[in-house]
Amino acid sequence: MCGIVGYIGNREASPILLSGLKRLEYRGYDSAGLALIEDFPAIAENGQRHSGIHAVGRLVVEKCKGKVTDLEAMAADHPHHATIGIGHTRWATHGAPSDVNSHPQTDESGRIAIIHNGIIENYSHIKDRLLARGHTFKSETDTEVLAHLIGEFYVDGRSLTEAVRLALNEVVGAYGIAVLAADAPEEIVCARKGSPLVLGVGSDNENFIASDAAAIIAHTRQVIYLADNEMATVTRAGIKTRTISNVEITKPVEVIEMELEAIEKGGYDHFMLKEIHEQPRTITDAMRGRVVEEEGNIVLGGLQSHLDELRQAKRLILTACGTSFHAALIGKYMIEQYARVPVEVEYASEFRYRNPIIEEGDVMFGISQSGETADTLAAMREGKGKGALALGIVNVVGSTIARESNGGVYIHAGPEIGVASTKAFTSQLTVLSLLTIMLGRMRHLSVVDGRAMIRKLLEIPEKVQRTLESTERQIRELSDTFKNASNFLYLGRGYNYPVALEGALKLKEISYIHAEGYPAAEMKHGPIALIDENMPVVVVAPQDEVYEKVLSNIQEVRARKGHVIAIATEGDEQIGALAEQVIYIPATLSMLTPILSVIPLQLLSYYIATARGCNVDQPRNLAKSVTVE
Ligand code: G6P
Repeated sequence: MCGIVGYIGNREASPILLSGLKRLEYRGYDSAGLALIEDFPAIAENGQRHSGIHAVGRLVVEKCKGKVTDLEAMAADHPHHATIGIGHTRWATHGAPSDVNSHPQTDESGRIAIIHNGIIENYSHIKDRLLARGHTFKSETDTEVLAHLIGEFYVDGRSLTEAVRLALNEVVGAYGIAVLAADAPEEIVCARKGSPLVLGVGSDNENFIASDAAAIIAHTRQVIYLADNEMATVTRAGIKTRTISNVEITKPVEVIEMELEAIEKGGYDHFMLKEIHEQPRTITDAMRGRVVEEEGNIVLGGLQSHLDELRQAKRLILTACGTSFHAALIGKYMIEQYARVPVEVEYASEFRYRNPIIEEGDVMFGISQSGETADTLAAMREGKGKGALALGIVNVVGSTIARESNGGVYIHAGPEIGVASTKAFTSQLTVLSLLTIMLGRMRHLSVVDGRAMIRKLLEIPEKVQRTLESTERQIRELSDTFKNASNFLYLGRGYNYPVALEGALKLKEISYIHAEGYPAAEMKHGPIALIDENMPVVVVAPQDEVYEKVLSNIQEVRARKGHVIAIATEGDEQIGALAEQVIYIPATLSMLTPILSVIPLQLLSYYIATARGCNVDQPRNLAKSVTVE
């Protein structure tokens, strides 16, 4: 989703902003722009220019529909000397992607520029008021309305910070913003409510602003996270923070541990492929330091102060969106089987608006890679407000869900850049397996059973590695055969029903082929009508408790001439007679099969999408982190 970068210092701002925007490209966007205040050295009485003295600067805006490289070309055509600026990548909400709707947006006078992530909900009301006062608007965006509103307050010698603050007091909605004014060329004002912002503390009279630390870690690792309803005035000399209700606050400077190479492609064609291949390591990282094999138990640091509540929990509610929702569905099967606690799984977007019943003993887990998904965050707040213990299973350290939860578990998958989630999913499953063992051991699970499960879990990274090595070539060839299909059906049962959903989601996200995931036995209640010689059907059929049942479902597909691609357990010869193609994965505990069975499905979607020439890292219309509802 939209990205924000800001810079103030002594270096040229444009290259820093453009490289920051490139780091944010993965979040998904349709246009990009920059606003800079060109240095205008003051003219001395003798007509000589004094370099380095800032008077009123000239505000310049460069923006266009398209990619950051288009903006870069534009900036190269119109070079500007500036040491202060803001940059944005936009993912359209109000108004189609176009040059004029791109950010930055400016106010009526053209001296204020703003970039904005989020949605101003009462923008039409504010716009009507401003229209009545004679304002004219160029774009269809809610952001331009906010720019004009700030302009209305930026009068009578008020500071830019105060003007922004007063404007925000009238705004309903979500925002992460950064604002520049031509006559305040020594500062950037930024604020946050519901859309992340991090401030980078530079070492040499320079400071940074970003919506995602990835944009600035090449320059600094010292950061200040703004919380909701907080704002900052960022100058060369320092950063002043206050609340939007005007109380000055001191925020801690934290050090981020992300490595630069973690956000680079490392020789792979795409981030998605790199991330698929990282999984043996990321799964190991999710377990690191958490397994006490001898005791058949698990220690999750972020849950240690809630062990009593977890022991007494009467019900767990897992809430999430997208791929994280599929992980939650598998989590339900695991936890109910081994810990015997009732688990409800719900789309966060549904949970937040339907007045859910929360009772004593309810524990909520919000599962989110980014930790910023607006619906998941709102669902967590709703549950927490109604008295549930709210815990997070999150990847991005320091993200909003991580900060607002009562506790939780980081999955430690490292930055996930590919829009289609892969390694975060298997790490979420790993953490859910750890949680299952821990909850089980608090209840009915014996030390012997706990140990046996842990052993199986510890084998998983090596089995993932084997799956990658043994299936990749076969899947690449297979992808060529099926790349022109218009539809795909994915079937699975038990633990692998959500894997079927995830396989279908991966394919449609990046190849734009219509795909549906179904519980295998439900096929006969509808989707079977679609099956003919043009329909590829991917059946996830490891040798688990429902294996025989799934074989019958395969027969039903074959009888209607569908093409069956089966994901099966190594050594299973029976299935070879039924399926056209069999992709083998190693045997493991049923609960853990999804971590292995999803690997070929990730590869299948990747290779089909690349064979179709799709941009897998930045699929059309999608955003990595959906910070609007
Ligand atoms: C977006 C992404 C998906 C992701 C979903 C939930 O739709 O494109 O890949 O699964 O958001 O994101 P989260 O960060 O909360 O896991």
